Amino acid sequence: MDYGKSKKWNVSFDTKCQGTDLTILDQYNAISYPIYQTATFSHRHVGEQTGFDYSRQSNPTRQQLESVVALLENGEHALAFSSGMAAVAAVMELFKPGDHLIVDEDLYGGSIRLFNTISAKNGIEFTVADVSSGIEEQIRPQTKAVYLETPTNPMMHVTDIRALAEVTKAHGILLIVDNTFLSPRFQNPLDLGADIVIHSGTKYIAGHHDTIGGLVVLNDDELDGRLRLISTTTGAAMAPFDSWLTLRGIRTLAVRMDRAQENALRIAEYLKQSPYVTRVIYPGLPEHPGYEIMKKQASGFGAMISFEVRSAEFARAVLENVELFYFAESLGGTETLITYPLTQTHAAVPQELREKNGITDRLLRLSVGIENAQDLIDEFERVFTVIGKPD
Ligand SMILES: Cc1ncc(COP(=O)(O)O)c(C=O)c1O
Repeated sequence: MDYGKSKKWNVSFDTKCQGTDLTILDQYNAISYPIYQTATFSHRHVGEQTGFDYSRQSNPTRQQLESVVALLENGEHALAFSSGMAAVAAVMELFKPGDHLIVDEDLYGGSIRLFNTISAKNGIEFTVADVSSGIEEQIRPQTKAVYLETPTNPMMHVTDIRALAEVTKAHGILLIVDNTFLSPRFQNPLDLGADIVIHSGTKYIAGHHDTIGGLVVLNDDELDGRLRLISTTTGAAMAPFDSWLTLRGIRTLAVRMDRAQENALRIAEYLKQSPYVTRVIYPGLPEHPGYEIMKKQASGFGAMISFEVRSAEFARAVLENVELFYFAESLGGTETLITYPLTQTHAAVPQELREKNGITDRLLRLSVGIENAQDLIDEFERVFTVIGKPD
């Protein structure tokens, strides 16, 4: 696939989000790329086609999205899936029984559930480890890949991608990075040596909590071919309308992320000084252990904050009392969401691992949106005051 003139133009990220430097336009040069809501494409003659055959395999709207996402992640190829989990599941289909993967211990609960159930059933073996502190000891002859998020969901552990990539390259194993939390606005793992980048497109990339999607970005032609075969064969690709919604979301990705991050820093500072909050975990705070690595490998810190309060009762009371923003699962949209990882995003994580990672009944996770930061702070102050006095 030809991703056009963009690489020669070398435009900035904000400009890339407009997708205007792609050669792929529809036949009428529509500025908003059309939704090709069709299952199939007709052929005038045997052996002659438009480049499209059947939408499970490929579709112009989805292809346009894939082109834009490849551009944003500085990748050669991108594939769009019906959800983030469909993307992770497709990547797992690259492996065969007996293959061994090293996966980080702190990950989105759905990914852990996939590995523990479906991938394990398919004969793939896993070592769960803190990959940020090195993987050499876990590598076996059958090791095929390392899988991580950075920062992780929800504990915000940070891994030095470049340092890890040196090790994976030396051993000929793949480095797979779920880049959902920072989005390509703030981090491009392929540039740091990763082989495969995964996104829940549901989050920052689409950005409006109105569609579900997943993306995989990579440079390797052979792996791209295998993933396309997997996608076509399993029928996991993104639908045309969802592709269009995601394309529309991308237009504001840069401005949304910049604003959400600005808000997140203010809220993290506020929570830090609040007597109601016992711990704030945000990689944009200089005391965060991953702060210096983040400064080296990312251009921003994102807008995800985890924090602890003094008791389970207090945490639940916060969720019961918030009004200006929502108690809901998910992240990365324009509205602020507050999540209870214990019963929501990380309910599927085995209890032992959850406890080891610190996902307690006092932990809350915040996806900071683009509202007025002072309004969000005032809302926290109101909620905390309603619940009661600090110890
Ligand atoms: C880091 C991360 N990766 C993957 C996923 C899965 O994405 P989806 O919900 O789009 O299937 C999520 C969902 O919350 C996530 O937070």
